[in-house]
Amino acid sequence: VTSRLVVLFGEERIPMEPTPPTEPQRRDFLKGAATVGIGGLLALPPGVAALQVVLDPLQRGGESSLIAVTLLDGLPADGLPRRFTLVCDRVDAWNRCAGVPIGAIFLRRTGPRAVQAFNVVCPHLGCSVEALPDGAFLCPCHNSRFDAQGRIDRSGGGAVPSPRDLDALETALEETPEGTVVRVRFQNFRAGIPEKIPDS
Ligand code: FES
Repeated sequence: VTSRLVVLFGEERIPMEPTPPTEPQRRDFLKGAATVGIGGLLALPPGVAALQVVLDPLQRGGESSLIAVTLLDGLPADGLPRRFTLVCDRVDAWNRCAGVPIGAIFLRRTGPRAVQAFNVVCPHLGCSVEALPDGAFLCPCHNSRFDAQGRIDRSGGGAVPSPRDLDALETALEETPEGTVVRVRFQNFRAGIPEKIPDS
């Protein structure tokens, strides 16, 4: 997924020589990223999972800054996961990626002020896992099962082809006048190996 993201950036890059950003311009870009993130999620009607994401093009491997995903109160208190699609929406001197899906995450509430986030990509061969009604996860490609905490579930007795647990993502909570915002650092990781290594 990450390599596809890199290709998309390459294909969509503005074909003229971009002017290297000055440091004040870069600060403005990053400040703008945070503003768009919170503004975008507050503009979403309840239940809408899509959001706008702004990638920092100076970071490698498709890693984003901690992006605003939703308000904490918007997550079910029962711990069931909600899926959020991440859509890049940025046109600037570095890239043009408006409307390009860059990935998806599951986000679940694990306590009054605690959340857990997973990349939806299966660590086996990269299919998207699905959430089951009981909060567990299943990969439809080769039937890897994961419990609600994202751990490999071997209780069914069959082989689990995934070499590792679901890839958890860093989260943070931020107090704002609008409420507690859940932020997630979106990242992809290499598939097919036991180690959780960021894709680059
Ligand atoms: S890609 Fe998920 S089990 Fe194979």
